[in-house]
Amino acid sequence: SVVILDFGSQFTRLIARRFRELGAYSVILPGSAPLERILREKPQGIVLSGGPSSVYDEAAPKPAPGVLDLDIPVLGVCYGMQYLAQQAGGDVKRAGKREYGKADLTQYGGQLFEGIQGEFVAWMSHSDSVTQLPAGYEVVAQTEDTPVTAIENRETRRYGVQFHPEVVHTPKGGQLLANFLEICGVTRDWTAEHIIDELVSDVQAQVGDGRVLLAISGGVDSSTLGLLLAKAVGEKLTAVFIDHGLLRLGEREQVEAALKPLGVNLVTVDARAEFMAALDGVSDPEQKRKIIGREFIRAFEREARAYGPFDFLAQGTLYPDVIESAGGEGAANIKSHHNVGGLPDDLAFKLVEPFRTLFKDEVREIARLLGLPDHIRMRHPFPGPGLAIRCLGAISEEKLDILRRVDDIFISGLREFSLYDGCSQALAILTPIQSVGVMGDERTYSYTAALRAVTTDDFMTAEWARLPYEFLATMSNRIVNQVHEINRVVYDITGKPPATIEWE
Ligand code: XMP
Repeated sequence: SVVILDFGSQFTRLIARRFRELGAYSVILPGSAPLERILREKPQGIVLSGGPSSVYDEAAPKPAPGVLDLDIPVLGVCYGMQYLAQQAGGDVKRAGKREYGKADLTQYGGQLFEGIQGEFVAWMSHSDSVTQLPAGYEVVAQTEDTPVTAIENRETRRYGVQFHPEVVHTPKGGQLLANFLEICGVTRDWTAEHIIDELVSDVQAQVGDGRVLLAISGGVDSSTLGLLLAKAVGEKLTAVFIDHGLLRLGEREQVEAALKPLGVNLVTVDARAEFMAALDGVSDPEQKRKIIGREFIRAFEREARAYGPFDFLAQGTLYPDVIESAGGEGAANIKSHHNVGGLPDDLAFKLVEPFRTLFKDEVREIARLLGLPDHIRMRHPFPGPGLAIRCLGAISEEKLDILRRVDDIFISGLREFSLYDGCSQALAILTPIQSVGVMGDERTYSYTAALRAVTTDDFMTAEWARLPYEFLATMSNRIVNQVHEINRVVYDITGKPPATIEWE
């Protein structure tokens, strides 16, 4: 494996992703991880990530003692390179000006750049630079502003790049990282087929003859987990899909049609009436979320008892939720609804979390091999509280029904115009605003629907999607023509921040 030591760069996860895409298993650990922890991963190479610190900061993070004495290749990226250089006796200084953005390498060579040809655009983001080379190192790349842009010491197999090879703005960075894998001698056999076989045998080893319970949300993670578990334990799996009445048009049928034929022992629970009764008259968004969370646990618990006893609870936890890094972003807390964390003690199952080492795109690849249909496999995320948080204020069957039809027109339209995959998430919102319009010769007084589409990498920040005007015009026409309760359509042009993606 390749161990990536995280010194706090926002790009650290991308390094791991690039290695995985290249077929190499890699693990992110905190920058200060003790030597024994690192050795447990059987590292064949180490990457020191970038980070916001300067090597001169009092609290500048560093690898634990002994880590750099390991006789394996080390690649320092940005801060990581500065640390390597300084530690080996070189000098690092605050550069006259901060270099940020794209830079052309004026020359490059050496082992990291092996086989790379033509112009090399590198993404820079630094204010410190290596000003004096440590003994044994040579400069292998330069830009106009940064004479020392990449360094190597072939003898000790220490390498450093001032730029970020892991971001898309460094188009040939993938080749550079592949070269590093070559130097490390890492076998690139981390393919999806390989992962499936491994996961299946891991699950079998962990579960034995035990019975496994899984909550299916209809999203890609839990659906794929259902397929994997069916493959691993067959009928010992019970997958529970709770229809809370807040799903989209045809969603329940789609989930059933996707999973049942592939051998998932799926139980669909109709809990619509309970959820509607509990939400009756409630208009505060947080209150709505809490009630839905509580009702979900209640329904899930009831089914767990009805079909139990179970030994294990399976969860689709992904690698970004568990990375032991300094930053620890909010990925985990947005999923609180699905953690089924509030189950009573006598239902305290052991957890099975086969996807703990995987990224979302790896799960999608596994899903493809396991036969999950593309409309679920490539689906945008859909929040646990469902349409309830897109139907502003107090919900009712009528309002949900209106929203369902608007949403279906918008999402089908995105697919029809090949715009769906270009958005990270798209949704329709039913506002409580009623306004005056004219249809034929009639005055109308009806609801306003809002459409929202965003692009984002991590859902922590997002841009509103620049959908073509013609497309928006078509959607607006279709919606007011087909959904009579709507006489006005608006498009949300707010980023996150300051707005959130959902409206409640
Ligand atoms: P916001 O609205 O906070 O949403 O910008 C960020 C992402 O999280 C999703 N989301 C949720 N997902 N349970 C979920 O499973 C929830 O309660 C929840 N609230 C928001 C939202 O759809 C978006 O993808």
